[in-house]
Amino acid sequence: MSYAIVGFGKIGQALARAFARKNISVTVASRRPPEDLAPQARAIGPTVVAKSLRDAIDADTIILAVPFGEHREVAKALPNWKGKTIIDAMNSFPIPPEDLDGLPSSAFVAKSFIGAKVVKGFNHLIAATLATDPVVEGGHRVVFLSSDDEDAIAPVADLAKQLGFAPVKLGKLNEGGALVHARGKTWGRLIFQDLFKKQQ
Ligand SMILES: NC(=O)c1ccc[n+]([C@@H]2O[C@H](COP(=O)([O-])OP(=O)(O)OC[C@H]3O[C@@H](n4cnc5c(N)ncnc54)[C@H](OP(=O)(O)O)[C@@H]3O)[C@@H](O)[C@H]2O)c1
Repeated sequence: MSYAIVGFGKIGQALARAFARKNISVTVASRRPPEDLAPQARAIGPTVVAKSLRDAIDADTIILAVPFGEHREVAKALPNWKGKTIIDAMNSFPIPPEDLDGLPSSAFVAKSFIGAKVVKGFNHLIAATLATDPVVEGGHRVVFLSSDDEDAIAPVADLAKQLGFAPVKLGKLNEGGALVHARGKTWGRLIFQDLFKKQQ
């Protein structure tokens, strides 16, 4: 498995820290050239490598950590995303449901990433919390995963575990996944809930 984070702001860097903590390689990219991102990537850890967006999207699993409206720009980088998993860490707050064709935001994102498997995850905590070690006093910080492609959840759950989190599978986007989606100006009930499990 190869991993990339697209968007190297607050959430992208928080997730890069999680990869660095476990010595797992990850590529990071934004619209800026890799040399602009490299000092911060190096400061986070040696397994975090800045690349161009074009090169970063060679990864099998790509975490989207850009402002919600920018996902369409990222999606233009490839005509077809078959074989790739997109982890949507974005929140669409406060975009009204009408602007998302009435879909859960991750289902709306999936429309742009033709052929990809889209899993919502790592979106429910503020970046400062996500950046801290998810293993505290023997407990593991919970991350919620949901997807309309339920086969896609298991490998993302494995990644979450490798990073030290305790994945909790919520099922489909408009079922359990609704608990971690914003709907207009209303946050899903599990957003901002910083929960821990005794075991992963
Ligand atoms: N901040 C939080 O606490 C938090 C919590 C949960 C979820 N989220 C979600 O996470 C996402 C990112 O939030 P953030 O707070 O990390 O934002 P941020 O600090 O503003 O970072 C956004 C990043 O995206 C990059 N970017 C913007 N447009 C791009 C494009 N078209 N292609 C590639 N890279 C692009 C920016 O870099 P360049 O300008 O160099 O391209 C920047 O690195 C948002 O969807 C937000 O809803 C945020």
